[in-house]
Amino acid sequence: MALTTGRLGSAIRGEFPILAHTTYLNSCSQGALSHRVRAAYEEYLDGWDERGAEWEVWVERADAARAAFARLLRAEPAELAVTTSVTQGVSGIVSALDLRARPKIVISEYEFPTVGQIAHAQELRGAEVVHVRPDPDGSIPPERFAEAIDERTALVCCTTVSYRTGHRNDVAEIARIAHESGALCLADSYQAIGAIDFDARALGVDFATGGTVKYLLGSSGLGFLYVRRELLGTLLPTQTGWFADEDIFQMDISDYSPAADARRFDAGTPPVPNIYAGLAGISIIEDAGTAAIEEHVAGLSTRLIDGLDGFGASVATPRDPGRRGPLVCVRSTDADALVAVLAVARIVCSERDSNLRISLHLYNVEDDVDTLLAALRARRDLLA
Ligand SMILES: Cc1ncc(COP(=O)(O)O)c(C=O)c1O
Repeated sequence: MALTTGRLGSAIRGEFPILAHTTYLNSCSQGALSHRVRAAYEEYLDGWDERGAEWEVWVERADAARAAFARLLRAEPAELAVTTSVTQGVSGIVSALDLRARPKIVISEYEFPTVGQIAHAQELRGAEVVHVRPDPDGSIPPERFAEAIDERTALVCCTTVSYRTGHRNDVAEIARIAHESGALCLADSYQAIGAIDFDARALGVDFATGGTVKYLLGSSGLGFLYVRRELLGTLLPTQTGWFADEDIFQMDISDYSPAADARRFDAGTPPVPNIYAGLAGISIIEDAGTAAIEEHVAGLSTRLIDGLDGFGASVATPRDPGRRGPLVCVRSTDADALVAVLAVARIVCSERDSNLRISLHLYNVEDDVDTLLAALRARRDLLA
């Protein structure tokens, strides 16, 4: 039975105006807008009106975002860079790699395009990129990574939850395998953070990245990069900027002297409006608690998968709650048409790879699942 009390489920739906008239199942794309996030934008604009440029406040807000990301990852603020995107974080990582010593970058077939594209861009610097492909059942067992990783591997990229199928990788085991060969491990966790309980150190990854536009309920243009503290002494990003400098306001153009902590992966002026929104969104997640959200979401997705099984739909996401996150994908004969049909009924989903993507979050309730199931049963012709 899914929880619907506390600071999630029906108890918080009033915070999100769109939920009054829409079945919103698209947090994998963008989380719903809350009153709290709207008020945060207003606060940013009020400060601009009343006080003008607030550089010191911006630095303080960026550090508040750093601390909030650290709490979500159970890490230290010194291990977090505040970025504008996953792209910035991953580009910063590869810019710090010595590809002469270790030219291989291993990526799972489920990486988001930006990760694959950045990896392949390193071919211009001599990198060799190896793709780890899923088994016929759609999972990527850690052994497939083991087959690809060797002493020449610099970096292994294993997304935590696939944005295409909802599969959750065994990140801890993949990180362990990477470390056995002396490689570093990055977990792009955009499809997980905010909807599952996350412990970067327990997973053993070297890097984790994500952002606020999805399950953290903020806007686009704000992300994070976790860098395991033991690496900070050795990794020097060549993609950099003045907010990554050891003394931001020294305004010194004579050398490269990055911050001692993970702020060395920051870049230019922080995305201030997005930070206001992101902090407000994260506060909603923290009020509910990520462990409670994960349990709530697992209950709803089990109800959804059981319902889909009930009329013979083909579910692409694993049955085992430990092998999936908040995203459930179902195979469609025409996913674009199905998304459009659902939109007419005010049910918001999205599609990738011939799959309908249904994403569940703290504000979803059993009624949402049942409404969707009824709509899909009525359009069984659009399901594979
Ligand atoms: C897994 C994953 N990684 C990365 C991104 C986006 O990357 P960026 O923040 O660079 O736009 C998304 C979605 O937009 C995603 O689902």
